Amino acid sequence: MDITNFEFNALNLPSPMEEIFDECWNSKGIQVFVKRDDHIHPIISGNKWRKLKNYIQTFSLNEHSGILSFGGAYSNHLFALAFAGHALGIPTVGIVRGEELNVSSNPYLKQINEWGMKLHFETRTRYREKKIPLEYENYLCIPEGGYGPQAIDGMNTLVNELPSCDAIYCAMGTGATAIGIARFSNVPVTGILTLNNQAEIEDHLNDFPTNNLTLDDNYIFGKYAKSNTDLELFCKEFNEKHQIPIEPIYTGRLFYALIDHIKNGHIAPDSKLVAIHTGGIK
Ligand SMILES: Cc1ncc(COP(=O)(O)O)c(C=O)c1O
Repeated sequence: MDITNFEFNALNLPSPMEEIFDECWNSKGIQVFVKRDDHIHPIISGNKWRKLKNYIQTFSLNEHSGILSFGGAYSNHLFALAFAGHALGIPTVGIVRGEELNVSSNPYLKQINEWGMKLHFETRTRYREKKIPLEYENYLCIPEGGYGPQAIDGMNTLVNELPSCDAIYCAMGTGATAIGIARFSNVPVTGILTLNNQAEIEDHLNDFPTNNLTLDDNYIFGKYAKSNTDLELFCKEFNEKHQIPIEPIYTGRLFYALIDHIKNGHIAPDSKLVAIHTGGIK
């Protein structure tokens, strides 16, 4: 399997960089750039390729029969892995949280199934155990949400594509993306938490220490993926103004936080900021 060929022919790498303008920051001499990783691919979008690439490279050593991973019913990660498996001819298995679900429960699971990923629906208890079914013992296992050392290492290429700047902003789920960026960069990184998992992220930081990552848990809006009219309106207005699609779960929270930091005087005048657009499906 030739990953370089796939990257060259199917992916838009390096992803574009775009400056966005607004009186709110331009009046302070602050520049805001968006790293458009959402343009890497319509499906393996945002941080997905960065997180998957090294695992796929490991698979290409021919020591495993396929790739297996874990996720919820709307997992962006399983969606991207299923497509990558389909595009590259890799057998994939998804262990999905919720025994009440099936391949027709939602359009994402339906699509994942059509791409050939074998789906196993587990009870919440069994899902938590993260057991690999015996028949897939030889599969390469990517931890839930694509978190793992190889995902963190995948941020090296992203950091190499960034211009020099004063601060980097990134949304956090498992933390792999923000931790990886911080480890490969000398610039201060602000990680915007999107769910109440600070303890889990602290654990990850014990395994992969950084000295330039600050966590901000002020923009969780109560609960992961919980809808919030303020946030939804913000995303809509941001999309209209900057012509950059963002969604309320990850990138909506990211840009809401970044603009709030600017308004609060948290960002020094004349700073150059880079926000990572990590993609996302709705
Ligand atoms: C669109 C989007 N942005 C950000 C994240 C958070 O990434 P990470 O889990 O690496 O912190 C995710 C989750 O993978 C995501 O789907």
